[in-house]
Amino acid sequence: MGAAVLVALNSRGCVVEGPAASYDVELAKSFKEAAEAAGILVGAAVNPAWLRDEALYLDVATEQFSSFTPENVMKMAATQPERGEFDFSEGDSLVEFAEGVGAVVHGHALVWHLALPSWIEEFEGNETEWRSLLETHVKTVAGHFRGKVASWDVVNEAFTDTGYRDTIWFRHLGPGYVADAFRWAREADPDADLYYNDFGLSGDPGKLNHVLDELEAMVDEGVPIDGLGVQAHVELNSPSNATLDACVGILKERLGQLGLKLRVSELDVSLNRDGRYCNFTDDLAAQQEHRFRSLAAKFLSVPQLTGVTFWGFSDAHTWIPHYFHDPDWPLPFDASYRPKPAARGFLDALLAAGGS
Ligand code: G3I
Repeated sequence: MGAAVLVALNSRGCVVEGPAASYDVELAKSFKEAAEAAGILVGAAVNPAWLRDEALYLDVATEQFSSFTPENVMKMAATQPERGEFDFSEGDSLVEFAEGVGAVVHGHALVWHLALPSWIEEFEGNETEWRSLLETHVKTVAGHFRGKVASWDVVNEAFTDTGYRDTIWFRHLGPGYVADAFRWAREADPDADLYYNDFGLSGDPGKLNHVLDELEAMVDEGVPIDGLGVQAHVELNSPSNATLDACVGILKERLGQLGLKLRVSELDVSLNRDGRYCNFTDDLAAQQEHRFRSLAAKFLSVPQLTGVTFWGFSDAHTWIPHYFHDPDWPLPFDASYRPKPAARGFLDALLAAGGS
């Protein structure tokens, strides 16, 4: 007879299914060694304060990754907290760390409608003044980090699945602001690769095609755009494998035609969006391992892929529980910084792509 499994509902209504997962995962290689053999960068979104303050966070970041994205410190709220007053201290701290460990920095994000400083909400001006404000921001930030970042998310989340998102920038500047931002960024940093970054692109073929239509129009006009960032905040079963395969097929075909690169820019695999689970079980760990292995293999099949970046790397620091208000374990290292089965799944795909 098998051991009885305790299944109970706790006071929050989530399921307690026996003990928390027990695993002892040893990674055969680091992510960055395996990624190098596969011809891509492997990255994580990080926070410089945690690199300074948490020894284990620093150790895993240093050992595993060849690319770092600032999770928040290069956003407008951080870089221009007061009008005309720029603060690059935390961004510089990240650049210094990355240089020290031989990694690159991917800047995020020059133009977004969130993480704005409060003075922007109160700014009153005509279209020319709004344009000048955004131009100054893009050129000052991209200019400061010229030669220090390898690439930028120039514009983040500007499109819906049929048109332009109704944002503060679209309302004041109309659709031309996206192309303008790329031109300003190229002028300020001619050597950085310039990406358009968005969500829904691995789970919604309609949105992916619409975004690619917009990029195609810009490429045809000679707008300096080098690549597409596919965020990939996914769940265990959503998007479905069929939908993912459809998106991967579109990416291969259309990025090839357009001559654009691909970054998977914000990968995580959320396990508990419906708040069903209280704890991370062996069953969830096994499903997540399988999901990371299969996701990585799909993305690695796209010839234009230049890198895969996790949005965080440890369950100790992830945006998901703060945003969705339930416990979650979406990343390859656990809250104690030990590799999870998910890390092994991801690494297996990298090793296979690199010929091991
Ligand atoms: O730093 C303040 C702190 O001083 C304050 O006490 C605290 C109280 O809420 O807030 C802290 O700021 C938070 C910040 O993260 C730093 O932790 C903000 O409230 C919070 O809104 C912010 O959330 C970030 C979010 O973008 C908005 O900027 C998340 O960390 C970050 O993971 C998330 O990242 C986005 C990408 O940029 C774009 N794609 C989606 C992705 C996930 O939402």
